[in-house]
Amino acid sequence: MVKTKILITGATGYIGRRLKNRLLAHPDYQLRLFVRNKRKVGERARHLVEIVEGDTFNKDALAEALENIDVAFYLIHSMGADKDFKSLDRISSENFRDACIAAGVRKIVYLGGLGVKETASKHLLSRIETGEILSGRPDDITTIWFRAGVIIGSGSASFEIIRNLSQKLPVMVAPRWVNTKTQPIAVDDVLSYLEEAVSLENTGNTVVDIGADIMSFREMMLAAGRVMGLKRFIIPVPVLSPKLSSYWLVLITTVPFKMAAALVEGLKSETVKQNDNAALLFPNIKPMSFESAVQQAIAEIEKDQVVSRWCDSSAGEACDVIYQDDPSSAIIRDRRVVSCEGIPPEKVYWSILSIGGDKGWHTYHFLWRIRGAMDKAVGGYGLSRGRRNPKELRVGDALDFWKVADLKENKRVLLSAQMKLPGKAWLEFSIEGDQLIQTAHYYPNGLWGRLYWYATNPFHNLVFQDLAEKIVEQARQGA
Ligand SMILES: NC(=O)c1ccc[n+]([C@@H]2O[C@H](COP(=O)([O-])OP(=O)(O)OC[C@H]3O[C@@H](n4cnc5c(N)ncnc54)[C@H](OP(=O)(O)O)[C@@H]3O)[C@@H](O)[C@H]2O)c1
Repeated sequence: MVKTKILITGATGYIGRRLKNRLLAHPDYQLRLFVRNKRKVGERARHLVEIVEGDTFNKDALAEALENIDVAFYLIHSMGADKDFKSLDRISSENFRDACIAAGVRKIVYLGGLGVKETASKHLLSRIETGEILSGRPDDITTIWFRAGVIIGSGSASFEIIRNLSQKLPVMVAPRWVNTKTQPIAVDDVLSYLEEAVSLENTGNTVVDIGADIMSFREMMLAAGRVMGLKRFIIPVPVLSPKLSSYWLVLITTVPFKMAAALVEGLKSETVKQNDNAALLFPNIKPMSFESAVQQAIAEIEKDQVVSRWCDSSAGEACDVIYQDDPSSAIIRDRRVVSCEGIPPEKVYWSILSIGGDKGWHTYHFLWRIRGAMDKAVGGYGLSRGRRNPKELRVGDALDFWKVADLKENKRVLLSAQMKLPGKAWLEFSIEGDQLIQTAHYYPNGLWGRLYWYATNPFHNLVFQDLAEKIVEQARQGA
C-alpha cells in the first residue's frame, strides 16, 4: 500500500511534538519533519522519520522539505520574535503556501486561534491573517484551517496559568476579563482533529472551529480547583488594568510577562466557535469536558509524562538553541574540577541530568532563588519554568532559566543561559576520565557585562564549587 506522505512543521513545538507522536503510530503514514534544529528531535523519533532542517524564510529548504509530500501541517508562529512578528508570520505563511503549491502538495492543515477579527487581539489577528494567506489560493491547494481557543494539556501555557492560580490562591481578586466566554479544548482532542484531517475527503477550503463547552476563565479556575480537590473563591474587581493583571500572572504563575500580556489581551474578547463544521465533518470526535481535560493533564504531570511544554520552542525568528552548543566565544571562565574516581560515568551523567526544577540546585537554594527572583523582576523566566521531567532532559528543554543546548551521553551537558544578563553565558559539565569538569562560560557585553561578572563572583565561588561537588556526591550515593 502506498503510504500518505506527511510533513509536520513546528515539530519541536507544543502541538507539533505531540502530533508527531500521534501520527507515528499510524502504519499508513510516512512522516517528515521540518525543523530549525534537528537535535531538538528526540532520539527515538530521529530513527523513525525523515528530517529536513531549515526555516520558512529559506525557500530552498522549504522546497526540499515539501518534495513528494501529500499533506503538510503548518504549526508555526512567530509570537516570540523581538521583531515585528506580524510581518514574519505573513512572509512565513506566503512562502509556505507557495512552496506547497509548487511541490504539488494536496492539502495544508493549519491550526490557528478562535475569535473574530473585529475584536481580535494583535496576536490573534496575525493568526487570522496566516489562515487567510494559507487558504488564499483555493484553486491551487486545499487548506483545512482549524481554530482553537484555550488548549488544555500538560505544559500548555493556559493550563499552567489556570493550574497555578487555582493551586496557589484560595481566594482571588480577579479582573473583569475572567468573565469573558471562551471554549477550551483538550489537547488530545485537538490532535484527533488534526489526525483525521489527513484523510478527510475533498472538502475544498474549510474553516473548522473546535472546542468543548463554553466557559469563562473564572469557571475554568473554579472547575480546575474542584478537580484538584480545592475550594476556591473568586471576587471580581471592576478595576484591574490588563498590565497589572499581567504582572499578577507573572508573579503567581510560570509564564513570562510577554506571554501573560498576550493571554490577558486575548481574554478581553470572546473566543467561541463560529461554525459547526467540527461536528459535521468529524462526527466521531466528541470533545471531552474541561474537567476530564484537567484530570488528564494532571495525570500526565504526576506520571512524569509531559510530552511538550509551552517553553519548548522559541517561536521567534530563529531557534533559541541553534548554534548555542559552542561556548568558545566566551572570554571569562569559572572552572571547577572534582574527582569522580570509582564512579561509572553514566552515574555522574545521570546526576548532572537531574539538577534544577523542583529539586533545586543542591545546597544554596536561597541564592539560586534570589537570582531567579531578580531575573523575573526584570522580565526574565526566573526559576519558574522548572523542568519538563525530573529525570530526563532533551536538547531544547527549558531548565529553570537555562536551556539545554547540547547533550552527549555520559560525556557532556551544556546549558545556555536565558536569564536576563549583560552578556551571554553557558554552564558546561564534562565527564573526562575520572573527573567532572564544570565550567561557567561568559561573554560580557562591554563594561556592564564585566561589572556584573565581578559583582556576582563571590556568589559564584559559593555556588559553583558546591554544585560540582554535590553532583559527584549524589552520583557516588547512586553508584
Ligand atoms: N498552544 C496553544 O495553546 C495553542 C492554542 C490555540 C492555537 N494554537 C496554534 O497552534 C499552532 C502551533 O502552536 P504551538 O503552541 O505548538 O507553538 P510553539 O510551541 O511555540 O511552537 C512553534 C514551532 O514553530 C517553529 N517555528 C517557528 N518559526 C518557524 C519558522 N520560521 N520556520 C520553521 N519553524 C518555525 C518552532 O521551532 P523552534 O523549536 O526552533 O523554536 C516550534 O517548533 C499555532 O498556529 C498556534 O496559533 C496553539
